[in-house]
Amino acid sequence: MLGNTYGITESFDPEARAVVWPGDCLDLLRTIPTGSMQLVVTSPPYNIGKEYERRLKLETYLEQQAKVIRECIRALSPRGSICWQVGNYVDQGAIIPLDTVLYPIFTERGLRMRNRIIWHFEHGLHCSRRFSGRYETIIWFTKCEEYTFNLDPVRVPQKYPGKKYFKGPKAGQYSCNPLGKNPGDLWVIPNVKSNHVEKTNHPCQFPVELIERLVLSLTNEEDWVLDPFLGTGTTIIAAIRHGRRGMGADTVPKYVKLARERVQQEIEGSLQTRPMNRPVYDPVEAGNKLTVAPWDRKRTDLQTALFEAPAKYGRKAAR
Ligand SMILES: C[S@@+](CC[C@H](N)C(=O)[O-])C[C@H]1O[C@@H](n2cnc3c(N)ncnc32)[C@H](O)[C@@H]1O
Repeated sequence: MLGNTYGITESFDPEARAVVWPGDCLDLLRTIPTGSMQLVVTSPPYNIGKEYERRLKLETYLEQQAKVIRECIRALSPRGSICWQVGNYVDQGAIIPLDTVLYPIFTERGLRMRNRIIWHFEHGLHCSRRFSGRYETIIWFTKCEEYTFNLDPVRVPQKYPGKKYFKGPKAGQYSCNPLGKNPGDLWVIPNVKSNHVEKTNHPCQFPVELIERLVLSLTNEEDWVLDPFLGTGTTIIAAIRHGRRGMGADTVPKYVKLARERVQQEIEGSLQTRPMNRPVYDPVEAGNKLTVAPWDRKRTDLQTALFEAPAKYGRKAAR
């Protein structure tokens, strides 16, 4: 693992641990040697008019993305991975899932898709003319068949860890992997909204734990992880937390400052993040009283009374 005695540099240096480039990602990418990045992971602007982007015609947006993706592929190591985390572009109420229109940009350049990961979360805008959007995707591509994939560091607890084979030569032995199971391609991880511990004033951060899973499974210690659209520095934080090197660019000075501050806190061990694999808060399990709406309380009380007083209402006691 890395010590905490290193700083943050502004431009690519093969000996650096953390690079925050204040400017356009294409300018940073041009300085990166071919084949040197093990993982490129990013959430680009979605072209939906956020404060850090200018809304463009979809074709123009895709051309811009293609330029960045082409440079990322050049910088990617032969065993490396690219993960593009996206949601929907919305055009007058009609949605266009960005992964569907970005997919050919990767495959036309010879990349192979390994997973389309669904990232499900529970908070966001409430729609009135369609169902509220509660997932985004991560499309994961590799350059070749011999790509790095470490499953053990990202295994999650089994549903029935004590389950055993009941017949055959292994009868009586545990049937599941004691290290846990494959996390699958549906990831339930809270998004960074309102009172999430990682929330800053950036409108679209992804959570550190989302990127930690990709860093742990798709890279090895000392490898480089690159995020061309860095925002608040999440990718670098996930990378250096696990002994990798992290690098990224952002054009907006206030996000560059924020990224530097957060990376510095991570280096010093003071950055607060939601721990990986913590179960999602369940208000019913937590005994929160607000899970029953006040206007429903009367009916619920009546049902409880019926249940608790079988004699009075002539119902046999439940066994
Ligand atoms: C969706 S946000 C990424 C947020 C990031 N994943 C995080 O966790 O904070 C996209 C970011 O790309 C930045 N950006 C937009 N165009 C850029 C460009 N050409 N080069 C570098 N950064 C850019 C924006 O300022 C914005 O912070």
